[in-house]
Amino acid sequence: MVEQLDRIMSEDAGQLLGGGSWREIVLALDEGIHIVDQQARTILYNHSAGRMDGLRPEEVLDRSIFEVFPSLTFENSTLMQTLKSGKEVSQSQQTFVNMKGEQITTVNKTVPVIFSDGSRGAMEISRDITLIQELAENISSLRNRFSSERSAETAAPGSRVKSRFKSNNTSYTFADLVGENREFKKVMNDAVRAAGSDSSVLIIGDTGTGKELFAQGIHNASSRAAQPFIAQNCAALPRELLESLLFGAEKGSFTGAATRPGLFEQASGGTILLDEINSLDYDLQAKLLRVLQEGRVRRVGGQQEKEVDVRVLATMNQPPEEAFAAGSLRQDLFYRLSVICLSLPPLRRRRDDIPLLLDHFFELYNSRFNRKLEGITPQLKQAQLKYDWPGNVRELQHMIECGFNLVSQERKIGLESLPLHQREKLSNLKGASSSNLAAPLLQGEIPELESYLARVEKKMIIRALNQSGGNKTSAGKMLGISRQSLQYKLKKYQLE
Ligand SMILES: Nc1ncnc2c1ncn2[C@@H]1O[C@H](COP(=O)(O)OP(=O)(O)OP(=O)(O)O)[C@@H](O)[C@H]1O
Ligand SMILES: [Mg+2]
Repeated sequence: MVEQLDRIMSEDAGQLLGGGSWREIVLALDEGIHIVDQQARTILYNHSAGRMDGLRPEEVLDRSIFEVFPSLTFENSTLMQTLKSGKEVSQSQQTFVNMKGEQITTVNKTVPVIFSDGSRGAMEISRDITLIQELAENISSLRNRFSSERSAETAAPGSRVKSRFKSNNTSYTFADLVGENREFKKVMNDAVRAAGSDSSVLIIGDTGTGKELFAQGIHNASSRAAQPFIAQNCAALPRELLESLLFGAEKGSFTGAATRPGLFEQASGGTILLDEINSLDYDLQAKLLRVLQEGRVRRVGGQQEKEVDVRVLATMNQPPEEAFAAGSLRQDLFYRLSVICLSLPPLRRRRDDIPLLLDHFFELYNSRFNRKLEGITPQLKQAQLKYDWPGNVRELQHMIECGFNLVSQERKIGLESLPLHQREKLSNLKGASSSNLAAPLLQGEIPELESYLARVEKKMIIRALNQSGGNKTSAGKMLGISRQSLQYKLKKYQLE
């Protein structure tokens, strides 16, 4: 940056305030640009900077910053700090009341510059994050409100509503984890052991494999169970917002700043779960590493460090080697976080658990929907056993939930109780029980769906009736539908 500006300046130094294409570009930028000379006199100030400060460029140009901004001092001005040290001041966040009385939050970077005559100056580049900041405040206060309402709900004496949420912000314990597969059991055992220690844990697994469940299970089985559990997704928010959410924000060097503790402080004594850690900004990963190593946080814009006692759990859905190669995960942070590393197998690697999970979610929704369904049809079960489940347990759970929503008079959930896209997913399987149904689709032919399905349904009914010697009850059983439902279909297809 120093070099670039020096070159630009030397090419165009005489016209700094006059004209020239580089100047037009700078003036048109969304970022605020403010350049001062060695005497802290403004020599360039674009409209975006003016919008943030509530000033017109003419009011600032050619005047000392101390004259224009009376609240500035040699100590609190980042432009002065850079002028004095010749060093960059990076990404400092400031909240201040501008000349129009508006409270503005900016993220600033101040860099030293050298002019063509050899004299030095400083340039401040500012980004307005006021809206983002407001969003952060809202998220933070909603989170607090939500969590205290949950606590009140679970703590209410004589409360007749059995909350699924425990007062520490969680919904699951190890007892909620379903699975008997050997590899899964081994990870479960490791997780149970991890609950007994205070070390960081990195949970790696594809989407829907149960990373959040494992994290909550560890917290609830640990000595921190009575303390808060706070989960934050690292992919969802821009860097500045996430930084102040995690570490808090302190009254800036200007006036009127909001002071807010971060999630690390709010989770004090408890556990913080950093979801999708490989999406966390690379520089912020370094800051997180320092917090983990030192056990202390410093709020954004703050001077003092505060000790925090928080256990950190993190998740990611990418193998570490891939994340290193993509430059999305720092190796030093990885080694710090993966003191204990749990690698959750995808559902396709624990197929023996599919029947167990199907039964588990069937029972869950039978009771949640207050239904008395009898089960899942053998056809559907067979297709589910052969399916690859890219969305893992979450996909399986949603499929059952969908079935409960769409099933009508039938006593069992079958292929016909699923929405079209799910039926197609299950049918597009080589060797699935429904391969007859899928065959023309696999060959590339797209039949008119409704009549095609009707044709297949009719064929299956005839086959079942033939095999059962015309007995409707056992034909219905074979098809996984009730006698009444079969009766209705016989009428519909005029098979009576
Ligand atoms: N072993 C399991 N037993 C019971 N339910 C499970 C199991 N694993 C996952 N689930 C269910 O699957 C859903 C998804 O799990 P979870 O949110 O933990 O996945 P995740 O690995 O965090 O996924 P993502 O990477 O998409 O955030 C949960 O709602 C939970 O009900
Ligand atoms: Mg998750």
